[in-house]
Amino acid sequence: MTDWSPNSWTTKRAAQDILYEDREELAEAKDALGRLPPLVTSFEVERLKSLLAEAQEGKRFVLQGGDCAEALLECDSDVIARKLKVLLQMSLVLVHGGHRPVVRIARLAGQYAKPRSQPTETRRLPSGETLTLPSYFGDLINKPEFTPEARRADPWLLVRGYQHAALTLNFVRSLTEGGFADLHHPEYWDLGYLNGSARRAEYQATVDEVLAALRFMTALGDGPVRELQRVEMFTSHEGLNLHYESAQTRRVPRRDGWYDLTTHLPWIGERTRQLDGAHIEFFRNIENPIGVKVGPTASAGDVLGLLGVLNPHDEPGKIVLITRMGAGKIRDGLPPLIDAVQKAKKRVLWVSDPMHGNTRKTDAGVKTRNYDDVLAELEACMAVHDARGSYFGGVHLELTGDDVTECVGGEERLREADLAQNYTTACDPRLNGRQALEVSFRVAQKLTRAGG
Ligand code: PEP
Ligand code: CO
Repeated sequence: MTDWSPNSWTTKRAAQDILYEDREELAEAKDALGRLPPLVTSFEVERLKSLLAEAQEGKRFVLQGGDCAEALLECDSDVIARKLKVLLQMSLVLVHGGHRPVVRIARLAGQYAKPRSQPTETRRLPSGETLTLPSYFGDLINKPEFTPEARRADPWLLVRGYQHAALTLNFVRSLTEGGFADLHHPEYWDLGYLNGSARRAEYQATVDEVLAALRFMTALGDGPVRELQRVEMFTSHEGLNLHYESAQTRRVPRRDGWYDLTTHLPWIGERTRQLDGAHIEFFRNIENPIGVKVGPTASAGDVLGLLGVLNPHDEPGKIVLITRMGAGKIRDGLPPLIDAVQKAKKRVLWVSDPMHGNTRKTDAGVKTRNYDDVLAELEACMAVHDARGSYFGGVHLELTGDDVTECVGGEERLREADLAQNYTTACDPRLNGRQALEVSFRVAQKLTRAGG
């Protein structure tokens, strides 16, 4: 492709650009990162692309979820295992409701870089003076503490982020390969935190049905079914820091093209999808499937422009459009985009992110999301696709397996006053395990009604 290299993006304007003061130190860190082995392989990347191609044909459903921002300090076995568990449980509910295999993609092992609405943050110090420092851009870039040292963009965090991603992925791979995800072990599907919930019985009924089917298949096959003893789990993160992405982008033996091997599915954020910007320049020539966030201001022309540059040959499985318009905007914003894509006969997978268009601040200044808005956007999105004969292909959620209080509403009826109890996110408010599972039940019910 014309004049592309893993670093050709540096000639373009990057929205959300990070200012590294010492260019030599940056070059050293990037060089060190580039010499380390990849986190994923091209085989896995191509495998995900083939599954996404089937999803685009309506044969699979995608579940993508995890933290808004992973923190290096949360690279912890319990946190990771609980997150994995809730994703597995949600996928079981979705398979059961939708009668289709679910492609599981975690926001994990690299979701360390965050776009910010302001490049700097100003605070009043106890002395009365005000101080302006760079915003916190995620653990891949700087640290959250409000001091000049912490907020300095540190190139060596690129390497530390990579290392933590590798540790996380190593644990996830072991868990998904060995007993943890084995459907034959129903205790792994147990959910302590659903005790006392109306959903508990519903979930148990789903598990019982799956187990009955499993016993049948085990008897039929004369032993445990290998395919049901492990699950496939793919990784994804926002490809925001192009120094990180490009350092790990390489050619591989016996295949054409360049692979970004930090993750299976990198995505382009709502704030960095300018056609003439650095991010599109980088993403236009990598072989990975690519997600693109599509917000309420996106026009049909914007979307067709992106498809033209990112997937000129309409390769199957390549593009996942993740709409995030807000519950109040999706009914007007989405139809023209679907119509344009249908008219142009382009292959895409439509996924709904019902989180990022529904963020608001409480009167006390705490970022939250209302569970009802999340559900309302999801349901409206499904209805719009349904009305247009377009396949609604998946959900993208910010969630954790931990019992946090960051989003209000849901069956627990969390109120704004409850938010302070356990509000730990490094960035946006996440659904807790119970709220996330509830969402999967509601989506599964709709999928069943839509004909499975
Ligand atoms: C995110 O997914 O955390 C995010 C920042 O999303 P968006 O680009 O859609 O705002
Ligand atoms: Co977020």
